[in-house]
Amino acid sequence: MAILVTGGSGFIGSHTCVQLLDAGREIVVVDNYCNSDPEALARVRELTGKDFKQYDADVRDREALRRIFTENHIEAVIHFAGLKAVGESVQMPIEYFDNNLISTLVLLEVMKEFGCKRLVFSSSATVYGAGNQPPLTEEMPLGAPTNPYGRTKSMIEDILRDLCVADAEFSAVLLRYFNPIGAHPSGRIGENPNGIPNNLMPYVTQVAIGRLPKLSVFGDDYNTPDGTCLRDYIHVVDLARGHLCAVDYAMEHTGAEAINLGTGEGYSVLDLVHTFARVTGVDVPYVIAPRRDGDLPAVYSCPDKAKELLGWETEFGLEEMCRDSWNWQKNNPTGYNK
Ligand code: NAD
Ligand code: WQD
Repeated sequence: MAILVTGGSGFIGSHTCVQLLDAGREIVVVDNYCNSDPEALARVRELTGKDFKQYDADVRDREALRRIFTENHIEAVIHFAGLKAVGESVQMPIEYFDNNLISTLVLLEVMKEFGCKRLVFSSSATVYGAGNQPPLTEEMPLGAPTNPYGRTKSMIEDILRDLCVADAEFSAVLLRYFNPIGAHPSGRIGENPNGIPNNLMPYVTQVAIGRLPKLSVFGDDYNTPDGTCLRDYIHVVDLARGHLCAVDYAMEHTGAEAINLGTGEGYSVLDLVHTFARVTGVDVPYVIAPRRDGDLPAVYSCPDKAKELLGWETEFGLEEMCRDSWNWQKNNPTGYNK
C-alpha cells in the first residue's frame, strides 16, 4: 500500500516525501520536472536512506497514470503537481488552466477507475480572495480570485466538493497553504525557483548570496504596523508534516474538508527582512518600491481547525524559517544546478 505523491520533486513535495519516508510510509512519486530538478528526489533518498518508485511522467498522461495504478497499490494521493506562479498565470492562462485542471481531472478519473478514494490537495490561501478580514477561517465565504492561478485552485476545490457529494465514500482534504518558506534543516533540499524569484524569501536569500543587488519592498504605506504587508509565513517542514496528518485524516473520514495550514501569525515584509539579517548575520539591502498589483495588506490564518481535526500545530517560528532558507541557499548558491 503506497501513497502517490504527484509533483513530489518540487519544493513542498520533496519535503513531504522526506516526512512520509521518515514516518515509514511507502511512497510512489510522479513528476515531469517542468518546475523542478530530479536531483531533489536523489537527495530525498540520501536524507532518508530509503528508496521509492519514481515515474517521470506528466499527470495529464492518462496511460502513464494507469500504469502507476496498475503497478502499485495506491491507497491515497497527495496532489502537488501544478503550475504556481501568479504573474505567469496572467500571461499564460491557457497553460495554467490546462496543466492544473486537466491534471486533476485525469488523476480523479484514474483514481475512480482503480477505486482509490483518498485525496489530499494543495489548495491555497488565495481562494479567500480580497473580501475577508484576517484571521481567515475555513467557513468564510470564498472570494473571487484575482488571477488565473488562483482561479484554478478555487475551481479544483469546487470539483472536489462536487465529487464528494456524488460519491459518499470519497475523501478530499483541501489544504489551504499560507506562505511556505524555509527548507529542510540539512540544507540538502529547498526552494529552487527558475529565473528571478517572484516570492519574497527566495528573493531575500538571492540578495544575501549576491546573485541580486537589492530587494524592492513593494509598498510601505499599507494600513499595517510598519506600513508593509503582513503574511503568514510557514516553515515548509511544518507544512510537510501537515500532509502526513492530512493523509491519516483522509483514511478515516469521507467528504470534502478545507483546512488552513499556517501559523496564525502575521509578519511584515520588514519583520522578515530584519529577522533574516539578525539570524544570519547577513545584511539584505533594500529599497522601498511602489505597491505590487494585487497584493492584499494582511493575509494570515486561523489555524484552529488544523489543530482540532488533524492534531497538527506548527513548531517553527520566523527565526528558524530564515535560518533554514539561508542554510539551503548558502549550501546551494545556484540551487540544484551543480
Ligand atoms: P513546485 O513548482 O516546486 O512543485 C510542483 C511540482 O509539480 C514540480 O516538481 C513540477 O515539476 C510538478 N508538475 C507540475 N505540473 C506537472 C504535471 N502536469 N505533471 C507532473 N508534474 C508536474 O511548487 P510547490 O511550491 O512545491 O507547490 C506545490 C503545490 O502547492 C502546487 O500545487 C502549488 O500551487 C501549491 N501551493 C504552493 C504555494 C507556495 O507558495 N509554494 C502556496 C499555496 C499552494
Ligand atoms: C509576500 C510579501 C509582497 C517580493 C504568493 C501567492 C499565493 C501563494 C503564496 C500559491 C508581499 C512582498 C515580495 C518582493 C516584496 N502561492 N514582496 N518584494 O504574494 O503573499 O503569495 O505566494 O498559492 O497565492 O500570491 O507571496 O512571497 O510573493 O509576497 O516586497 O520582491 O512580500 O508584496 O507583501 P504572496 P510573496
